[in-house]
Order: sequence, then structure tokens, then C-alpha cells
Amino acid sequence: MRSYAKSIALYGRTKEHLAGGVSSNVRYASTPVPLFFVRGEGARLYDVDGNTHIDYVLGNGPAILGHAPKPVIDAVARSLADGQVYAAQHPRETELAERLCGLLPGAEVVRFATSGTEAVLMTMRLARAFTGRTKILKFEGHYHGWSDQAFISTRPSLNEAGPAEAPVPVAGSPGMPPSVLDDIVVAGWNDLEAVAAAFDRHPGEIAGVIMEPVMVNGGAVVPGEGYLAGVRDLCHIKGALFVCDEVITGFRVGLRGAQARFGVTADLAIYAKAVAAGFPLALVAGRRDVMDTLLDKGVMHGGTYNGNVQSMAAAIAALDELERDDGAVYDAMERRGARLMQGLASIAARRGVAMRVQGLPAIFQTFFTSGPGPRNYREAEACDRDRALAFHRALQEQGVRVNQVAKWFLSTAHDDTVIDETLAAADRALATLE
Ligand SMILES: Cc1ncc(COP(=O)(O)O)c(C=O)c1O
Repeated sequence: MRSYAKSIALYGRTKEHLAGGVSSNVRYASTPVPLFFVRGEGARLYDVDGNTHIDYVLGNGPAILGHAPKPVIDAVARSLADGQVYAAQHPRETELAERLCGLLPGAEVVRFATSGTEAVLMTMRLARAFTGRTKILKFEGHYHGWSDQAFISTRPSLNEAGPAEAPVPVAGSPGMPPSVLDDIVVAGWNDLEAVAAAFDRHPGEIAGVIMEPVMVNGGAVVPGEGYLAGVRDLCHIKGALFVCDEVITGFRVGLRGAQARFGVTADLAIYAKAVAAGFPLALVAGRRDVMDTLLDKGVMHGGTYNGNVQSMAAAIAALDELERDDGAVYDAMERRGARLMQGLASIAARRGVAMRVQGLPAIFQTFFTSGPGPRNYREAEACDRDRALAFHRALQEQGVRVNQVAKWFLSTAHDDTVIDETLAAADRALATLE
């Protein structure tokens, strides 16, 4: 058995002065306590107890080039002596904005922020200001940050969530004013009729429709054929903006994100996480006429750290790596991820464990179900979470780190040797679940 004695002791000490012992509630979900790491390099993390972990959490997505990627670290190191925040413009911002607009679908202009949560809020405000309407339609199981306005029906209990065809908005946290629920319409995802019905129930009221174009947070689910284009078309018929939250999918499911992969272009899109390979950066990209309301109509957006020197330097260096040979690293990552997905599925089949591997090669989930793969939040919730947790624990014992629902993020540093090692570890872990 691996020992976590030092993590346990450090967690006890940390809790005395850091609320709950963590800086984000998501980090409570770790076994046996929130673990303490001292170093990350490539595909691996090293904890205070001397355990090595092949890491498929990757900071929940940012570490697309693995931990401490040298070209990014070097670029950031070179930038440090230039200062950090100017409360003014600088040429690295110009360069990054130009490159992103040349690359991303529908990106006529971009605006930088620091976290995905804030960038989501910017899109909600822009949609409301541009359309003069108030309501935002979001989907059950989709996470768009922890704000009062967006942390709604992200993981609702099915007792409170109402009927699948017309879900009731459910606040995700104590302390959220009930009034925020009035401004949100919730629909089940991957069901075009549900979106049409929501528009019909709220004629002329919906400013924008926001979604994760691949539902990652509520269970790794790929959109059905034609669904994204169908939602986009409905938005445009009904005079609403179509907003893609690519905080996870951007720079992960392909160089140009989920929109390019599935052949749709949103009016506004949000990127964060992988864009700066581990440094804090988020951005909104989209239509010039919508984004221009920031200037023309005085739609407010601010942030002390937005466009800071190190985040810009990191993103430029990350783009150099990701864009080389028109995104050749994605081909390699896709191939290795597909091999990992297939390998896990065949080990589970050989061992007689009812497990489904679902998603895309750079972000997927292992669901425990003998039924078909889930297509939406409610179906994902019906899978066996206790088995997923047991798999997470068994993998950790074998030196592989996935999150507690058994979600797997890949990086370019997960080479074939790492994949082989992971499959051997997964074989031993699944043996304990037979
Ligand atoms: C799809 C999605 N949107 C928004 C966010 C919020 O981003 P941040 O944690 O940077 O505030 C997340 C975070 O995991 C996310 O997965």
C-alpha cells in the first residue's frame, strides 16, 4: 500500500489556516485527503510522500504540454524581468490577439480575462447587452464556473431538477440569491427539440445559449450528429447568440477546438486552461459587432491581471508548440489517446468489468455501466459512481492519477511508454474490481 502519511499530516496542518485546507472546493475530492505535490514534470507528478503519479488530471485541463514544459517555462522566465502588470497595453498582447484571430473559428476579435468563470460572465453580459434580452439558456450538467449567474443546474439532484423535458433551474450552492434563477432557462443537452421547446416557452426572452460543445463536466459526451449546427441555427432564427464554452475543449480536442472539430462557428466562444499551458489566462473570442459593444455601448469588462505579461508570454510560447506543422502534436496525441481508450476497453472486457470508455482521445471518461454510453447528464448520473471511485482509488494505488469520476485528460507528454505503463497499471487496478 502506498503511504500518504505526509499528505495527511500536511492537510491537518493546512486546514488550521487555509479554509477547508484547499483553495478550490473541487480539490476536496481526493483520496485519502487532498494530496500535496512537490513537483510535476512531463506526464508525472511527485507527492510529498515520495509517490510518483502518471497524471491524467493535468490541473483539470491546462497542462496540455505536460507539467513544466520547457519552451513555455523558458519564455515566461525571459519575460519576468520585463515586469508583470502595467495597467496598460503591451506588444505581447497585440501579438497574441493577432495570432488567435488568425487561428480560431469565428474569432474576429478577442478580449483577455484571467479565469474561465469571468470570461463566461463577460459573454453573458455581452449577449444581454447586444440583444436587449435577459435570459440565458444553459444545459443540465454543464459547468461554466462558480459564479451566482452560471453555477446553476451543474450537478442538480434529480429530486429537485424537475422533468427531463423542462428541467427546473437549481442553484449549485448555498448563498446564491434565488433571483438568479429567474434569468436562466435550463434544458437537457443533446436534444434539439428540448432547445426548440425552451425557445417556445420563452418567446423573445433568450439572449444567448451557452454550452460545452462536448459535455465534459457532466460526463464526457460528444454531441450527436448535427446537434451543434441545429442549436446554432435555432439561435439565429430566434435572435439569440450561440456561445460555446471551450474552456476545456479549446486547444485540447484539436488546435482549433470543438468548433472546428464539429464544423460549427459560435457567435462567442470562451477559451482558458490549455491556451496558456498552465498559466492563468482566459479569453472571449467572437463576432466583431458583438465584441464592439465593449467600446461602443460601454459594456463593462475589467480585471487587474488581464493580459499580464507572463500569461501572454506563456500563451505565445504554447501556441508556438501547438501550431507547429499545423498542429502535428494533436495527431500524435489523438493516436495515443485512441490507443489508451481502446486498451482500457479491451482490458475491462477481458476481465468482465462492465466499463465504457467514452469521449475523445484527449479527454474521455470511464463509465461503469452495462447499458449504452450516456448521451446527457441524467444518463451519466445513472452510471455507477461508486465503481468509478473504486477505480480511481485502485488506479492511484498503481501510480495512475485520474479524478474521482474517472475522467482522463491527455497531454503531449503522455508518450507511448507512458501509455504502455498506464495500461499495465489499469490491468492491475481493474483486477481488483472483477
Ligand atoms: C467548461 C468550463 N467552463 C468554465 C470553467 C471555469 O473556469 P475557471 O476555473 O478558470 O474559472 C470551467 C472550469 O473547469 C470549465 O470546465
